[in-house]
Amino acid sequence: MRAIRGATTVSRDTAEEVRQAVKELLDTIREENALADEDFVFILLSNTSDITSFYPAKAAREAGYAFCALYSSAEPDITGALPLCIRVMLLAEGNGPAKHVYLRGAANLRKDLKKFAIALDGPSGSGKSTVARLLAKELDILYLDTGAMYRACALKALRTHCTFQEKDVRSLCESLTIAVKYEDGAQHTYLDGQDVSEEIRRPEVSMAASKISAFPCIREKMVAMQRQIAERQSCILDGRDIGTDVLPNAEFKFFITADAATRARRRGKELEENGYAVDLKKLQEEIEERDRNDSSREHSPLRRAPDAVFVDTSDMAIEQVIAFIKQKMQEKV
Ligand code: DC
Repeated sequence: MRAIRGATTVSRDTAEEVRQAVKELLDTIREENALADEDFVFILLSNTSDITSFYPAKAAREAGYAFCALYSSAEPDITGALPLCIRVMLLAEGNGPAKHVYLRGAANLRKDLKKFAIALDGPSGSGKSTVARLLAKELDILYLDTGAMYRACALKALRTHCTFQEKDVRSLCESLTIAVKYEDGAQHTYLDGQDVSEEIRRPEVSMAASKISAFPCIREKMVAMQRQIAERQSCILDGRDIGTDVLPNAEFKFFITADAATRARRRGKELEENGYAVDLKKLQEEIEERDRNDSSREHSPLRRAPDAVFVDTSDMAIEQVIAFIKQKMQEKV
C-alpha cells in the first residue's frame, strides 16, 4: 500500500478551473505511479477556503475516479498559505516509492521543490520594498533590497568626500567592501565591515545613491554580488534593473510604479516615522530628480522589461498589490 500526495492551484475560483485542475492532478498521479483503477483505495482531497465554486471530490468523480471512495473538505485559513490550492492524499495498492505530484502554483511556489526568482523594479516610493518584504515572508523566500547596496556605496562616497568624478569613483570602488547578511530574516547591509543598515536611510544618502549607481564600475560589482546571492535560493529582488539586467531570466517580473505625489507622500511618511522633518514639496522634487537620474543614465537605466507586468499602485492598498501579484504569478504557472 502506498500513500501518495499531491497539490495544485487554480488561477481563479470557478467550477471549470477546479474541474480541470483536479483532473490534471489525479491523471498525473495515476500516470506517474502507473496506477490501474483497482489500485485506488481512497482519494482524500482538500481545498483552501478561498475555493467555494465546486467540490474537488465532485470534480474527481466527474473526471472518472468514481471507482473508489472520494472525500473533500475545506482547510482552515492559514496566514501566508498558498492561495487557491487543492491538495490530495490517496491510498493505492502496490509497492515501490510513491511519486508525489505538485503542479501549477504548488510546484513553483514551494521553495523546496523548485527554485525561482521574482524581479521587482520601479522608481523610489512606488511601494516595491514593502511589497517585496511582505511577499518574501509569505512565500518564505529571501528578499534582497539591492537599493540598500547602492546606498552603502553612496555612504562611503559621502564619508570620503568623493567628488563623483569617474577617477574618484573608480578608486572608491576598488577600496569598497559591501556585504549583505540576514539576521532574524531581516537584511543587514555592511560597509567595510560595519552594519550601516540604518545610516543608509538618511535622506542625503538617497540622492548620492542615485548618483553613484550610474557608474559602471559600481554597478558591475553590485550586480555580480546580487547574482551570486540569487543563484543560491528562491528569492525576490527589488531595484531598477533586476528584470532587465540582473536577472533577465527571472520566472516572474513586475514593474511597480505610482504617481510622483503619491510616492512623495509615502516616502515622507516613512521618513517622519523615522524622526526626520519632511518638506513634502521638496521631497517630491527630489524624487522627480532621482527618477530622471535613474531613468536617463547610460548604464542599466530604470526601465520596464518587456515581459514585466506593470502595476500602478497609486490607488491601491498594499494588500491589493500583493493579491494582484500573487494572482499574476499563479496565472503564469
Ligand atoms: O530603491 P532605493 O531608493 O533604496 O535605491 C537607491 C538608489 O540606488 C536609486 O536612486 C537608484 C539606485 N539603484 C539602482 O541603480 N539599481 C538598483 N537595482 C537599485 C537601486
